[in-house]
Formats: sequence, structure tokens, C-alpha cells
Amino acid sequence: MTSFTEQSTLLAIETSCDETSAAVFRGRELAANVISSQMFHTKYGGIIPELASRAHVQSLPAVVAEALRQAGVGMRDVGGIAVTAHPGLMGALVVGTSFAKGLSLRYNVPLVAVNHIEGHIFSAFIENESLAFPFLALVVSGGHTSIFHVRSFEDYEIIGSTRDDAAGEAFDKIAKLLGLGYPGGAKMDAVAKQGNPAAIKFPRGMYHEEHFDFSFSGLKTSVRTYVQNTLRNQVTAELLPDLCASAQEAIVDVLVHKTLRAADRTDARAIVVAGGVAANSRLRAKLHEQATKRSIGLFIPSMQLCTDNAGMIGIVGRKKLLHGIQSGLEFTVSSNALRAKRA
Ligand code: KG4
Ligand code: ZN
Repeated sequence: MTSFTEQSTLLAIETSCDETSAAVFRGRELAANVISSQMFHTKYGGIIPELASRAHVQSLPAVVAEALRQAGVGMRDVGGIAVTAHPGLMGALVVGTSFAKGLSLRYNVPLVAVNHIEGHIFSAFIENESLAFPFLALVVSGGHTSIFHVRSFEDYEIIGSTRDDAAGEAFDKIAKLLGLGYPGGAKMDAVAKQGNPAAIKFPRGMYHEEHFDFSFSGLKTSVRTYVQNTLRNQVTAELLPDLCASAQEAIVDVLVHKTLRAADRTDARAIVVAGGVAANSRLRAKLHEQATKRSIGLFIPSMQLCTDNAGMIGIVGRKKLLHGIQSGLEFTVSSNALRAKRA
């Protein structure tokens, strides 16, 4: 087995949830990042784990082949493989890791297991190599809402996270009860542009508490109660923009407030935002305004790198392999986010 160097080609694989993705790094350059989203879950109103696993089995070989083709390389050029091992859906993770182990064995290439959350935290390095430590990372997706204090690639700690729903989950659940379908975060964002964010005063969970944890389930209940009691279940097209804007404002206000307070309390020189909710236009605008006011850097990766993708797994895998860290073939997958604090 040859050793992994700065110039080596790396293949990365991500199958932790409902995106089948493969990426190729040629040295430092992200040469391909192919993402195949399992859109069929929308008709069930949520992700069905068994169907996600089957879809990964069906599409992963073609997604990997396409990534290699786009990068202009073959498996024999690959000097290292990185794969998501946790956290995520067990069956879905088994598909990706088994495939990666098979390739590693067949082509005698070093393999490294990567923590999906580390992928989100360090994804900003793909487009900003000069990003300096220490920084804060706000990871906001359908499954996670956490703030990390990041001192180096090896040294980071979680300083706050949600105690119930994730921010994306809150967007999706509220969007669903407003009749916008699933997943509705992006639709809520779009409809909210026509609405007044101050129209309805929804609660801001844990806003005034000193810690950096979040709670969004009270907001969801409050929107439901408002729709049932005040609107008598009549969510008209006229009311919808104000409802979306007001509920969105409640989520965004807390995310921005806690992240900036964490920035004020720590030595962080920049804020990184990642995960699907980083696409939210109101969150981006408010963070931008506040970060500029404080002269603190704000790094939000481009959309393709914010949502689940193998490129972010590759950047972490590459750093690990360059530091001589390999996983061998014995590692197991885990759905557990706690274990995932350290890969
Ligand atoms: O990171 P991601 O693609 O997948 C996982 O959660 O694993 O994030 C998806 C989440 C969904 O909850 C979706 O509704 C939310 O991100 N989302 C948004 C927006 N775009 C996607 N939420 C608010 N505003 C958006 N523009
Ligand atoms: Zn994710």
C-alpha cells in the first residue's frame, strides 16, 4: 500500500441519509462532487430508512463511476478513500462503508472513516483554504443544530445544541402544518419574502438563557395552536406569507442571537455556517449584518457544499490520511451523534 501524499487522488463516499454522493479530490482540488438526492421520500412526508438503504445500493456504483469520470481519473489513480461512518441511518451507512471497504481491498488503497458532522464543520475549507482557527461552526440541518468551538482539525468542542427538534426539522414541521409539503424549509423561505416577520409574535425558545442550547418544539406547538384556535384552521393565501415570515423569524432570531453571543464569549475569529438551513436567506442576511458590525469573518459554503455531500467528507478524510490516520477494514458504523464527537 503506497502512502497518501499532498498530490494523491482521493475518493470520498457519503450515504448517511438520503443523498448518495461521491467526490474526487485531485491533490487539493475538488475535481468532482456528484450528488444524487432521493426525492421519492417527499411523498411519504419523511425519510423511510429501509427505502433509503435500497436506493443507495442501486445508485452508489453509478454515482462513484460518474465522479471518477468527471474528475478524469480511474480507480487505479486513487491513493486514498474516505467514507462517512457516523452518525446517520445504520442501513444507509452500511451501504457506503461496505462499498468503500470493498474498493479499498480490491485496489489496495488506504481507507479512512469520517464523522459526518466533522464534514459539515470543516466544509468551509474547500472554498477558503485560508480560514483561520479558532472559529465557531453553526451546523444547522434537518437532523442537527449545534454550535462548535473549533480550535484545530483535531480539537473542537460542542458548546450548544438543540434539546428537541433540529432547526431544519422545525422548518419542515411548521411548513407541513401550513400546507407547504415536505421538506418545506426552502418553500417557507420563499413565501416569507412576501410577509411581515413582525406580524405574529411567536416564542423564541431559550433566547434569554445563558447557555448555547436551543429548543424549537415550543414554537411548533405555538404555530399549531395559532392555526387551530386563532385561524380556526383557515390558513388562507393572504395570511400565509405573514405566518411563514413570523415563524421563520422566531427560528432565525434564536440561531443568530446564540451564535453571536458565543462569538462574543469566545476567542473565535470567524463564524462558519453549514447544513441545509444555511440556505435560508433570512439567516444569511441577519448573520451577515451582525458579523459585519462586529468585524468578524463569516464563511457560508456554496449551497452544494452546505447540504449533505461527499466533498465535505473528502476534505476531512484527506487531512486525516495526510496525518497518517487510517481506519483499516474493521471499523463499524454508528447512528449515534455522541460517539460521533470524535471520529
Ligand atoms: O443538510 P440537509 O440537506 O440534510 C439533512 O438534514 O441531513 O438539510 C435539509 C434541511 C431540511 O430540513 C430543509 O427544509 C432545510 O434544510 N432547508 C431550509 C432551506 N433549504 C433547506 N430551511 C430553511 N430555509 C431554506 N432556504
Ligand atoms: Zn448533514
